[in-house]
Amino acid sequence: MNRTLVKHALASDAEQDSILVEGWVRTRRDSKAFSFLEVNDGTSLASIQVIADAGIPGYEDIGKMTTGSSVSVEGRLVSSPGKQKWEIQATAIKLVGTSPESYPLQKKGHSPEFLRTIAHLRPRTNLFGAIFRTRSRIARAVHRFFMERDFIWVHTPIITASDCEGAGEMFHVTTLDPLAENKSYEKDFFGKPASLTVSGQLEGETFACALSNIYTFGPTFRAENSNTTRHAAEFWMIEPEVAFCDIYGDMDLAEAFIRHIADTMLADESGDFDFFCKFVDKGLRARLEEVSNKPFVRCSYTEAIDIMLASGEKFEYPPYWGMDLQSEHERFLTERHFKCPVIVYNYPKEIKPFYMRLNDDGKTVTAMDVLVPGIGEIIGGSQREERLDVLEGNIARLGMDAEAYYWYNDLRRYGTVPHAGFGVGFERLIMFVTGVQNIRDVLPYPRTPRNCEF
Ligand code: 4AD
Ligand code: MG
Repeated sequence: MNRTLVKHALASDAEQDSILVEGWVRTRRDSKAFSFLEVNDGTSLASIQVIADAGIPGYEDIGKMTTGSSVSVEGRLVSSPGKQKWEIQATAIKLVGTSPESYPLQKKGHSPEFLRTIAHLRPRTNLFGAIFRTRSRIARAVHRFFMERDFIWVHTPIITASDCEGAGEMFHVTTLDPLAENKSYEKDFFGKPASLTVSGQLEGETFACALSNIYTFGPTFRAENSNTTRHAAEFWMIEPEVAFCDIYGDMDLAEAFIRHIADTMLADESGDFDFFCKFVDKGLRARLEEVSNKPFVRCSYTEAIDIMLASGEKFEYPPYWGMDLQSEHERFLTERHFKCPVIVYNYPKEIKPFYMRLNDDGKTVTAMDVLVPGIGEIIGGSQREERLDVLEGNIARLGMDAEAYYWYNDLRRYGTVPHAGFGVGFERLIMFVTGVQNIRDVLPYPRTPRNCEF
């Protein structure tokens, strides 16, 4: 007999004479003549109630069907007098795997901090089941957004020899023993330094300058030593890149993207979104509805500094023109001043990477960051420098190895075009649509400084 997933059993539109459901026992209650079991298989928040009469095949093991054990249930799907529409009247029940008292999820209501220490078991809780189902659904919505707009998904390399952001926050990839003497890149696997990518952008640009509209969606790595609730050493990034596009087209795309994701979440009927609204963040629905309905504010970096200077607000890092915006500044702008998503653009060139297009003022570059309430920066992007001489000037000014970027410069040498793109932090996006406050709770196995467990 084929297994029916609990989510399909619960959504059935008729009674069924013969059904097989398999999953893990959440709770069990016994009376003299029968037992109630709540069985969950992770396909939905809801468990299905099973009624097992004493004497059915397998009932002799009922005492071992404890919280966390796995069971296989055959029976009839019948309408339920309880709050759910359907329950299963078992005709046979089988103990698949026992779960002794040491099972850490005996009781409900563990803190996210404790659950992080059992990251291998936490997907069995309501909260983490909902988070990781949502992560999968939002990934599908990301692909749908771009594919519907004729973007090509490009799989840019994970091992690379370039540092896109120029921040030097790279994990080195080597086959050499770090403790051995006489190391030289000559002897290393690639014969030169290599690292895990911090961004697929540069390689993505080469494909945009051939296929017009592309995006990447994959893991990226940053050895940033910042232990915050919004930074991870391994995270996923979505990076669209569009040829024949300027900074304004870039902002339009970013805004449409965030709105599409908010709308996807608002349309969720699985119960997971309702769960987040009820138990994680009471303001979540209203916030996503605003994102869905209201245009984002666009504000230049210079205006943003002026707004903060005029605000009378006490900041830990007092604002001045030329500084990189800190998280407190981003959150002030989006949460307290504008109270909606804000796109800040045209940043000082000194604080931004080599590839961003220089504006006519000679002082600012066409960078744009999307800031959202509750998170701060969720997207960073820019129009790219398409003029070979200006780009070569940047590479020289920053003391970068010009030869290593010959291929990047070739895009400007042969048929250069204005082009633009951005990077979305996928985990920050998941935090944004679930209300979850810590990036460690939206990654299956978070990697952060001094933490690489599992
Ligand atoms: O602003 P970033 O550094 O931009 C880039 O990497 C560009 N190359 C993107 C592009 O134009 N194609 O990173 C983009 C986004 C950030 O806005 C943030 O959401 C996320 O990636 N991000 C991180 N997320 C989690 N942990 C970290 N350590 C992150 N660093 C950046
Ligand atoms: Mg950024």
